[in-house]
Amino acid sequence: MRYKYAYRLYRQTRLHPRSTRMASSEGNKLWGGRFVGATDPIMEKFNASIHYDKRMWAADIQGSKAYVKALEKAGLVTKAEMEQILEGMDKIFEEWSKGVFDIKAGDEDIHTANERRLKELIGEAAGKLHTGRSRNDQVVTDMRLWLRDGISTVTGHLLQLINTMMERAASEIDILFPGYTHMQRAQPIRWSHWILSHAAALCRDAEKLEEMSRRVNILPLGSGAIAGNPFNIDRDLLRKELRFDAISLNSMDATSDRDFVAEFLFWASLCVTHLSKMAEDLIIYSTKEFAFVTLSDAYSTGSSLMPQKKNPDSLELIRSKAGRLFGRCSGFLMTLKGLPSTYNKDLQEDKEAMFDSYDTVCAVLQVATGVISTLKVNRTAMEAALSTDMLATDLAYYLVRKGMPFREAHGASGKAVHLAETKGIPLNQLTLEDLKTISLLFESDVSLVWNYTNSVEQYSAPGGTAESSVTAQIQHIRDWLKPRRS
Ligand code: ARG
Repeated sequence: MRYKYAYRLYRQTRLHPRSTRMASSEGNKLWGGRFVGATDPIMEKFNASIHYDKRMWAADIQGSKAYVKALEKAGLVTKAEMEQILEGMDKIFEEWSKGVFDIKAGDEDIHTANERRLKELIGEAAGKLHTGRSRNDQVVTDMRLWLRDGISTVTGHLLQLINTMMERAASEIDILFPGYTHMQRAQPIRWSHWILSHAAALCRDAEKLEEMSRRVNILPLGSGAIAGNPFNIDRDLLRKELRFDAISLNSMDATSDRDFVAEFLFWASLCVTHLSKMAEDLIIYSTKEFAFVTLSDAYSTGSSLMPQKKNPDSLELIRSKAGRLFGRCSGFLMTLKGLPSTYNKDLQEDKEAMFDSYDTVCAVLQVATGVISTLKVNRTAMEAALSTDMLATDLAYYLVRKGMPFREAHGASGKAVHLAETKGIPLNQLTLEDLKTISLLFESDVSLVWNYTNSVEQYSAPGGTAESSVTAQIQHIRDWLKPRRS
């Protein structure tokens, strides 16, 4: 009872019949005709997307300018009206670019804001612009235009990073250090080989982005709210005006298809997952225990308590952003799951996910480029971390080259490792006599095994860590980058 009373009071103070008091925004509503009474201010705020979708102001204007040309061709506006609308749109463009566009209460989203302003600027003719168009086909057109540009910016950052990594790999090709599996010392590798292992994943990301842009670049405009466009709008003219590659097949699908958003969110999750792994390696390599690399001060921060600390915050944040991005992706897929056909307001959730993922991935790529290009490599520590037990595989290969089947050689080398451990000496300190107790195939040339450069140089098959093979990888990336960066 008490709750009911309190709630009624609350409603009375917040909602007023249109006749007594009108929320300041009511007059601006583009869909106001069938509504009586004001929107609850809380609902107004809940419903509005202008504070974030205003980022698409340029795309929205671009779309409207194309649309009015199609309207003119279809005879729905006169040439003069078209000129008026185009000029109005240019004026609005100018206001946005100068940062003086005035968002008014009741500007629900970027589409209503621009149209409201157009009417203020040119009067009645503005009312013809939305003929046959719906915000359902308009919003998704705007998003595709926006993301098309976004993808080209992201691609630029990504290629810059790959290039930085490739150049670093080329200039530090002769540095060797331990390669790890299960975080245990595995085999000696080139530092460049490690760099390129991460660059290879990023090249796949760039290729995925290219494939994805083809699916982004499809025109939904002309689909109306659901059923299509009743005014013989020339969709191919719209396609050419807006430089889309193709037009959407089905109006019901076109207005609700957000696959391109989901794909971008997944793409960003995967790309930053790749970078989170690289970051994790570098965080470990930058510890005092490893001291393989030193992060530039420009990408580190200190502790407010411990004066000696230099923390790899840049790398930790890169690592964390993978979680944030996957959250965006999985969250949006949850929104899509089980939606009824065609447009539902749930789809408005697509934009914050897209913008945030875009902003995050752009920041991550630029910071990663900065980190990689300024990192100091401690060659002495890297080489000092190599130990002869990491050459146990090489010892087995020595026997293989003398004709022993690999399985048997693996066992023999294992025995040598065990013998050295029981004697408490490094593997390379076993005498020839010691080794001969394991296999008579061991001869004095076994001493050549205990050399890290010899070790890495064996791996000369494509993809391996030999200098020739790493050089070929660098060349491959260089050639791959060339057409993409020009
Ligand atoms: N702001 C809306 C969105 O982002 C635009 C589309 C609104 N369409 C509608 N039928 N209410 O999705």
